[in-house]
Amino acid sequence: MLKGSFPIEQFALRHTPFYYYDLELLGRTLDCIKSQSAKLPKAKVHYAVKANFNPVILKTIAASGLGADCVSGGEIRAALSAGFKPGDIVYAGVGKSDWEIELALEEGIGRFNVESAAELQVISEIACRMGRTAHISLRVNPDIGAHTHANITTGLAENKFGIGYEQLEQVLTLALSLPNISYEGLHFHIGSQILDMSDFVALCNRINSLAKSLEIKHLPLGDINVGGGLGINYEHPNHLPIADFELYFSTFKKHLHLPEGTTLHFELGRSVVAPCGSLICKVLYVKKGSSRQFAIVDASMTELIRPALYKAYHRIENLSSNEAEEIYDVVGPVCESSDVFLKSASIDRCRRGDLLAIRSAGAYGESMASCYNCRALPESVFNPEPAE
Ligand code: LLP
Repeated sequence: MLKGSFPIEQFALRHTPFYYYDLELLGRTLDCIKSQSAKLPKAKVHYAVKANFNPVILKTIAASGLGADCVSGGEIRAALSAGFKPGDIVYAGVGKSDWEIELALEEGIGRFNVESAAELQVISEIACRMGRTAHISLRVNPDIGAHTHANITTGLAENKFGIGYEQLEQVLTLALSLPNISYEGLHFHIGSQILDMSDFVALCNRINSLAKSLEIKHLPLGDINVGGGLGINYEHPNHLPIADFELYFSTFKKHLHLPEGTTLHFELGRSVVAPCGSLICKVLYVKKGSSRQFAIVDASMTELIRPALYKAYHRIENLSSNEAEEIYDVVGPVCESSDVFLKSASIDRCRRGDLLAIRSAGAYGESMASCYNCRALPESVFNPEPAE
């Protein structure tokens, strides 16, 4: 089996499980994002902090000049302490608490992505009280289904996110009338792990027609934030370690028809960080059941919940063995039958003590970890080691 390159001598001394991050790959990914997005007339890429808020990862991304997309007061704080500029922070979320709105205003973040008329009123009230101006975009629910897992599609009318596009004019008119609110543009996000560009083309078409109807009504459009969602190749992390940013950005360049000078914002999470992270764990036991063979490892759904939650596929490699492949169900120690990383996985023969790499786990891995069963939160290892 073709495997990624890992510093296993460095791993041998460490307690497992832990997250391993290839910062060199992250650097190449960020360079690719910068060069491909620069082909658009005016683009600003934000990193979706929810994908991974490990401080080293955040600092690396902040230093590359991307903005930050946050979804809570905690994420705003994490972004600021990693070095993102307040003006480069956009803040979305259907349920912003008062303290979070106050924090965002206090810190002078660039943009609130507002998800309802009710939220708009509250932001205006708080901004008036604080003597601040809130710069806002309206998050529009474009009612577009993405070809992805049902739990990670967000742009359908049935989802809780955003303002129905048929209500947009009304809410936009309200935004223009409220004190201490400065209307700046529209925000969209249709879902995650999207590999079929026709989903983004559908989003472009929706935005084009909304832009036309606002123009007819003499309502301002402002800038456009198309959210995130670009998928990665989970099957072939070694052949295709960087998402197809060229295709992604060129899709928007080709299909969005916006007035000259319009800034286009992106909020990418998974495609930035997923490939650079692996969950490293150890085989505790190999157990031959009556019908299946299990590799029982010391990592579980508490470090990486994606397989249990979404039946998500992560490729698994045995870093300690070059023996012939065998078929295993790779499972963790947690008391849930869904604590399975992969069923019928074909992996080089496993023995107790072997190190396994669960690949493409840099996004929504560590950031979704929990302490269920009193397990410790995972540690992280970087290559190269970051300077203090
Ligand atoms: N912008 C907004 C408003 C979002 O809700 C999200 C992700 C993003 C940007 C970033 O999307 P990305 O580029 O990462 O696809 N836990 C799930 C994914 C949930 C995504 C939530 N929103 C998973 O493990 O697959």
